[in-house]
Amino acid sequence: MDLPLHGHRWPVLRDEMMAMRANDLDWKHGRHGAYVWYASDELEDVLREAFGMFLVENGLGMRAFPSIARMENEVLSMVRGLLSGDDETAGIFTSGGTESIFLAMFALREWAKKEKRGVSRPQVIAPHSAHPALNKAAFMLGLDVKRVPVGADFRADPAALEAAIGPNTVGVYASAPSYSLGMVDPIPALGAMAAKHGLWLHVDACVGGILAPFVRECGYEVPPFDFSVPGVTSISADLHKSGFAAKPASTVSFRTRAHRDFARYVFDDWPSGTYASLTFTGTRPGGAIAASWAALNFLGREGYREIAAASMRAKERTIAGLTAIEGVQVHGAPPLYAFSWAAPGVDMGAVAGAMARRGWLCGQTTSPAGIHVMATPVHESSADAYAAAAAECIAEAGAGGAASQQAQYS
Ligand SMILES: Cc1ncc(COP(=O)(O)O)c(C=O)c1O
Repeated sequence: MDLPLHGHRWPVLRDEMMAMRANDLDWKHGRHGAYVWYASDELEDVLREAFGMFLVENGLGMRAFPSIARMENEVLSMVRGLLSGDDETAGIFTSGGTESIFLAMFALREWAKKEKRGVSRPQVIAPHSAHPALNKAAFMLGLDVKRVPVGADFRADPAALEAAIGPNTVGVYASAPSYSLGMVDPIPALGAMAAKHGLWLHVDACVGGILAPFVRECGYEVPPFDFSVPGVTSISADLHKSGFAAKPASTVSFRTRAHRDFARYVFDDWPSGTYASLTFTGTRPGGAIAASWAALNFLGREGYREIAAASMRAKERTIAGLTAIEGVQVHGAPPLYAFSWAAPGVDMGAVAGAMARRGWLCGQTTSPAGIHVMATPVHESSADAYAAAAAECIAEAGAGGAASQQAQYS
């Protein structure tokens, strides 16, 4: 397509854009297993309006926009409270989990340069379940990652990780929860291990960080994973996932301001003076900060508790429907709203393919083979239909009537 000579009228373009959506996934009715965290039309309207109000403002230029600076500080302060931080805890508002993890690994690398002088190529050890954003960051930053098999419960195995520590190991990475199987790693044991060996422990709570405290308030047991656990150095927690804010929005918080300052980049050898930044990105969307601030204040503790309760009801109803199918099992005991299930002896890739043909976008897991579910409030009303479709697809795949689909995340 070439740039049109004459611009088109907006109503014409809007209609065309609406039409383009025809084949998109129906996320409003829980047909999605990934990518979208949607709670209600009411919240969507708030996010759209808040984002639109600050559409043009740039989060790079805080001296121009005290409004954005205030909202960013308040968002980081609210997140700090949710993660059991204190006055020393310092955060950064980022564009997503990947940037939050990148900045944690960047800070870790700079910290290691100062604190681990004998290390030539720093290494981070992680359970096999860690999100690829870890390796992406390590690839860009010149770090090594050593992935270690998880335990029989699909969580990080502290003894195996400790055995993997070598002379170049500077950090440990764990999840709360892991994306694929929804497991919260044993953070207290990993924190003790990190403290014992003088390592930086990053907790990837991109999925759990904002909502897990409310799942706990609803009476569910969620293992400790935040700054209340000694040894935790940094935590990534996405606002655009379980914070139900607008994309792109995440946070990375550090136990102390000194830890956070390792993520600062400063440059001044160019014609426009000092460029100092705590983020990977330069220009930053003011709208994302504003929409996050609006989401947190619009929902409040009560709103998040309702979302947590609805997400857990959605998970339980989905699991009840699935496990009523002969042989179907959930992998392990995931404490939050993410989990994976399988019908042993059936090609789960074929089941996922059959589900996709029926309009259900399913993430797949490979070790062990299964289908991933990220339950959100909209999945409560789709749970029964999902389980009914799963039963049909298992039968179809079991009878060899469905082609196997490769696991694919992005
Ligand atoms: C556990 C976990 N960490 C990190 C990420 C990366 O987040 P993003 O896609 O926002 O960059 C994800 C994304 O799903 C995730 O589930």
